[in-house]
Amino acid sequence: MKLKRTHTCGQLRIDDVGKKAIMAGWVHSYRDHGNLVFIDLRDREGLTQLVFDPETQPEVHKSARTVRCEWVVAAKGVVQPRTEGMANPKLPTGEIEVAVEELEILNVAMTPPFEMASAEKTSEEIRLASRYIDLRRPKMQQKLHVRHRAAKITRDYFDKLGFWEIETPMLAKSTPEGARDFLVPSRLQRNTFYALPQSPQLFKQILMVSGVDKYFQIVRCFRDEDPRADRQAEFTQIDVEMSFVDSNDVIGVHENLIAKIWKEILGVDVTAPMRRITYADAMANYGTDRPDLRFDMKLIDISDIAKDCNFKVFTSSIEKDGVVKGICVPNGDRYSRSDIEKTLTEFVGDYGAKGLAWFKAKKETGRLTLASSIAKFFSPQQHQQIIERFNARDGDLLLFIADSQANANKALAPLRCRLAKEAKRYDTKGFEFVWVVDFPLFEWNEAEGRFDSLHHPFTAPVEQDIEKLDTHPANVCSQAYDIVVNGSEIGGGSIRIHNPKVQHKVFELLKISKSQAQKQFGFFLKALEYGAPPHGGIALGLDRIIMLLTGTDNIRDVIAFPKTQRGQCLLTDAPSKVDPKQLEELNLRLQRHLHAIEQKDE
Ligand code: AMO
Ligand code: AMP
Repeated sequence: MKLKRTHTCGQLRIDDVGKKAIMAGWVHSYRDHGNLVFIDLRDREGLTQLVFDPETQPEVHKSARTVRCEWVVAAKGVVQPRTEGMANPKLPTGEIEVAVEELEILNVAMTPPFEMASAEKTSEEIRLASRYIDLRRPKMQQKLHVRHRAAKITRDYFDKLGFWEIETPMLAKSTPEGARDFLVPSRLQRNTFYALPQSPQLFKQILMVSGVDKYFQIVRCFRDEDPRADRQAEFTQIDVEMSFVDSNDVIGVHENLIAKIWKEILGVDVTAPMRRITYADAMANYGTDRPDLRFDMKLIDISDIAKDCNFKVFTSSIEKDGVVKGICVPNGDRYSRSDIEKTLTEFVGDYGAKGLAWFKAKKETGRLTLASSIAKFFSPQQHQQIIERFNARDGDLLLFIADSQANANKALAPLRCRLAKEAKRYDTKGFEFVWVVDFPLFEWNEAEGRFDSLHHPFTAPVEQDIEKLDTHPANVCSQAYDIVVNGSEIGGGSIRIHNPKVQHKVFELLKISKSQAQKQFGFFLKALEYGAPPHGGIALGLDRIIMLLTGTDNIRDVIAFPKTQRGQCLLTDAPSKVDPKQLEELNLRLQRHLHAIEQKDE
């Protein structure tokens, strides 16, 4: 490189007119007007217009005519104001241009597989396969930058509060977070496997037993689950653990962190303390433990009214201990009968609902009544009760699902979000933060005939409920807390069990036998016996936080090199087959019938 950079492409302003500048970057676009050639030069800081004049610099002008999009060049020149009427108010550098005196072509480039300008319309597969080009786009660079800044703010914040960043192993023993493990075969210890950590849960608790007091780590976690819009198999947590604390301490530290991130990155004031909602209220009113509170539209149970109606679908559900639960869509009149019976019914059907009953509130002869094909199954008094329960107005639409509480919630919660979105009932730029608290410690697993942890098996019950572990385990409340923003769970944690006896009792209820517990977490149980302080912590999902900060609903947008829905890296082609020699060293053999299937595939 002959020309040494003095400025970035986003730096020069009208005040710099007359200065010499050297910039380097990629050719974003070029316009050849025969006489003048214009090149927009791009680096991660912005765009600057270069102008090449054949009168003053014939050689340089000639060279400029040869360059193409995405070539890498350096240019030296003088900053000048753009000619009258040519300023671009959309660009920070829009008032100036650089009259180039020297051009150095640093590299040529093949024609990119997609045009930067139309990247949003290009299939994601194509963009992921050439991620280096995709990441050059200003929108993507901004996301990478926000991610860097959020991580930096986090590190500085915890450092100031006396937290230590400590790394924990990636080659680990599996801990039960509930997902499938990624396994790594050991060469030195034949026939044994490491597991990539689903989270550093047990290590961070052991760090508390080790006297570390305040730990944090920005850490990669691995879960072999199907990726989704907000889930990757490989993702990042801001992982924290603290000693001698209660829930309010952990919550306080993290709402201040979040407020700081939101303020510094978006300039948005987040009020702390944030609101809290109990798990029971979240489930009853919103049908989910991650409620979107940007809009109201609560779910309402009308089982007490519906139990006496003549609509069999409703009464038979209630007889089977189910519920009739519904939602009121203000001005939902605009949904036609076919919108409801086809589109919306199919939508809830995808979440397992068997149907969707509806009424429209209509004013007739000065009175509000309910119109629907099933209206006849309800007495005038029941109509009035339903209207009052929802505070329904003329033109509102009422939608109901009759099913078990859990099934009704499962379908009504996404329906609520869809209806609110379609009705534009919230500010898409706003944020509603809420801590969900007072979770039950367990949920009953019907299929397996045992309890499951609602969080993980190391979550502490509230102290006054410890005795209930023996008598009414289903009613034991935990000291867990989740933080939810706009319906996205961005973090979860708890105060932990530090008493080995309670830990053993919980394993018993989860039907983890003594020998199983010993085998899986003997090391951890032993550590608890050697003076474990009371402790608790949380993990925030960094990827999801960046999604909110950058306004995307695709987690792949905020990860430099993400995996597809099928778990593939289209850039490197991972996962891929390995050399048989490597397998041999690991004492592994692929099953023959799988071999055969693979060969057929090829
Ligand atoms: P949990 O499993 O709730 O808790 O994870 C904490 C947070 O991590 C994020 N997250 C994910 N983000 C992207 N892709 C995924 N596959 C994914 N899975 C989880 C979510 C979630 O809220 N060890 C405990 C924390 C603790 O108790 O301290 C844990 O991992 O935002
Ligand atoms: P059916 O008796 O199945 O023809 O259903 C009559 C109406 O009730 C239709 O609008 C169905 O969508 C609705 N429906 C059926 N099952 C349920 C259910 N479990 N909850 C709510 N509505 C239902």
